[in-house]
Amino acid sequence: MPPVLAARGLEKRYRRVQALAGVDLEVAPGQLVGLLGPNGAGKSTLVKIACGLVRATGGTVEVAGAPAGSVQARRALGYLAELFRFPAWMSADEVLTLHQRLTGATGGEAERVELLELVGLPDARRTRVAAMSKGMQQRLGIAQALVGGPPLLLLDEPTSALDPAGRRVVRGLLEQLRERGTSVLLNSHLLSEVELVCDHVVIVDRGRVVAAGTPAELRREGGVEVETANGTRRFADARRADVPRLVRELVAAGEDVYEVRVVTSTLEEAYLEVVEE
Ligand SMILES: Nc1ncnc2c1ncn2[C@@H]1O[C@H](COP(=O)(O)OP(=O)(O)OP(=O)(O)O)[C@@H](O)[C@H]1O
Ligand SMILES: [Mg+2]
Repeated sequence: MPPVLAARGLEKRYRRVQALAGVDLEVAPGQLVGLLGPNGAGKSTLVKIACGLVRATGGTVEVAGAPAGSVQARRALGYLAELFRFPAWMSADEVLTLHQRLTGATGGEAERVELLELVGLPDARRTRVAAMSKGMQQRLGIAQALVGGPPLLLLDEPTSALDPAGRRVVRGLLEQLRERGTSVLLNSHLLSEVELVCDHVVIVDRGRVVAAGTPAELRREGGVEVETANGTRRFADARRADVPRLVRELVAAGEDVYEVRVVTSTLEEAYLEVVEE
């Protein structure tokens, strides 16, 4: 199946700043891709180009097979901006009604009720934005991105204001969306969260992709630890494939082996390794 989002050789220059310097990135149907990188790496710029809000200076982006910014491409995506503000006087229901009108979504009241339930705001229909906490506004923002059921969601740090319980709600929501076949590109600084939900991770630094793969591929093996009767033995350069040989050798040397651990790094450690100078 063709990708829902495909960036090829994407470049963006803002006067003297090279925000993107040739990025290739794909999101397949139903895939949840995490976009990671330090502040200023170019993540939001990439998402804004995909939405048609910012024009690329090189390369191409296609959304559902159509050039980014075209009506067809915009119809296929839902977007939650990193910094957004809904009119303070509107209720949650009014915000969603407005976005239904803007997108031409025909779901009506049933869709609005369902979306507020989905993001964990079932009682906030008549609550005004002014009376909502930051976290509630962010949940409403996610509901807004889901209006019309687009096949692709671009979420720019959707959980930055959420408490741990709220993050779990959003994680559950993302998993539900995956089951429905919705594709998601998720910008986040929360590595543990990305590690938990994403199928694929792309790490950018200074406008370039510096690492990509599944969370399991990006985590690295970092040696083997063996518990023996004489204490813990560490084999810093060993990998999982070395374990049978190590155990055979230890046993042949008369050691009693109680436990063997392959030490793997977390996504955070792998991340810091590729983005640090
Ligand atoms: N409208 C703009 N005009 C000039 N420079 C810009 C503009 N928008 C972004 N930049 C610059 O482009 C680079 C990439 O910014 P971008 O917002 O894409 O980073 P980011 O990866 O989303 O960072 P963060 O994690 O802080 O959100 C930065 O150096 C930023 O200062
Ligand atoms: Mg950003």
